[in-house]
Amino acid sequence: MPIVAVSDSAIARAARALARGALAAFPTETVYGLGADATNARAVAAIYEMKGRPRFNPLIVHVADDEAADAHAKFSADARALARNFWPGPLTLVLRKRPHSAICDLVSAGLKTIALRVPANDIAQSLLRAAKCPVAAPSANRAGHVSPTSAAHVAADLGEGPALILDGGATALGLESTVIDLSGPRPLLLRPGAIPREEIETIIETKLGNAATPDRPASPGQLASHYAPRTRLRLEATSLEPGEALLAFGATPFSALGPVVNLSPGGDLREAASRFFAALRELDECGCSAIAVAPVPDVGLGEAINDRLRRAATRSHE
Ligand code: TXA
Ligand code: MG
Repeated sequence: MPIVAVSDSAIARAARALARGALAAFPTETVYGLGADATNARAVAAIYEMKGRPRFNPLIVHVADDEAADAHAKFSADARALARNFWPGPLTLVLRKRPHSAICDLVSAGLKTIALRVPANDIAQSLLRAAKCPVAAPSANRAGHVSPTSAAHVAADLGEGPALILDGGATALGLESTVIDLSGPRPLLLRPGAIPREEIETIIETKLGNAATPDRPASPGQLASHYAPRTRLRLEATSLEPGEALLAFGATPFSALGPVVNLSPGGDLREAASRFFAALRELDECGCSAIAVAPVPDVGLGEAINDRLRRAATRSHE
């Protein structure tokens, strides 16, 4: 059983697990999180795999304090005011990501924004300070299950998956953080949570818009702002047309004349997921007439890759 009682050495063990690219579950004041080093794309791919998410939803990045947050995102005046009032605490801010942030593209599923939170829980704080890296952590449950508020819940859902589960007892709030998007022209409530909307509206002296409107669906995977290449995608390609770039997976039977990125020559889906968004960007910028995409098996992380490929390929109809 990977459940470990909290002690200095347990926290050091969890920090070492994160440093080597493994996953560690830890308590926050809201719910337990399944953490990975947010700068390590393979570790982040392992989060999606362990949760069994059928698509790449963007993840929250946890940092120890405002200063650490500042390294990764641009803070508007509203963002500063909310951070000052509610951090550390159950508030997540979606902000524009700094271009030089080391946080990998997979964390925000290719978006140019990043969701940041400074948790108030002592164990989470100790872990973040020991780990010395930003920690991507969704709730530590299987996709579609309820969020875990105890170490036993995490173990029931994820079993031996995480390298360890830091046991900090029942979480204080039991409700996820409130997610506010400050990256656009108008502040939006993306997810209601432990801090009521009114408290946030009082600080920023504005009414929050709602995320779920016809032009802004509730599911972030469907947001129009999600990264979609400008270049046309041709899926399930088994041959190459002149002028096409190739997004390959595994052994590729055709010899490409143009640019090629292979998501994983060895056919490893976790490696493919970790390279996916950067690969799309790279091929999108090479000026080809289209990007031919080799078939990716629709199992495990392949399901999320194919979901994103299909939506990128049909973006003009959205
Ligand atoms: O309380 C919490 O927030 C917990 C603890 C572990 O911190 N975490 C959590 O993470 O609930 P998760 O992954 O289950 O939920 C993340 C939420 C989702 O609603 C996601 O769509 C949104 O944050 N989100 C993350 N990054 C985003 C982004 N760049 N743009 C829009 N929404 C984002
Ligand atoms: Mg969740």
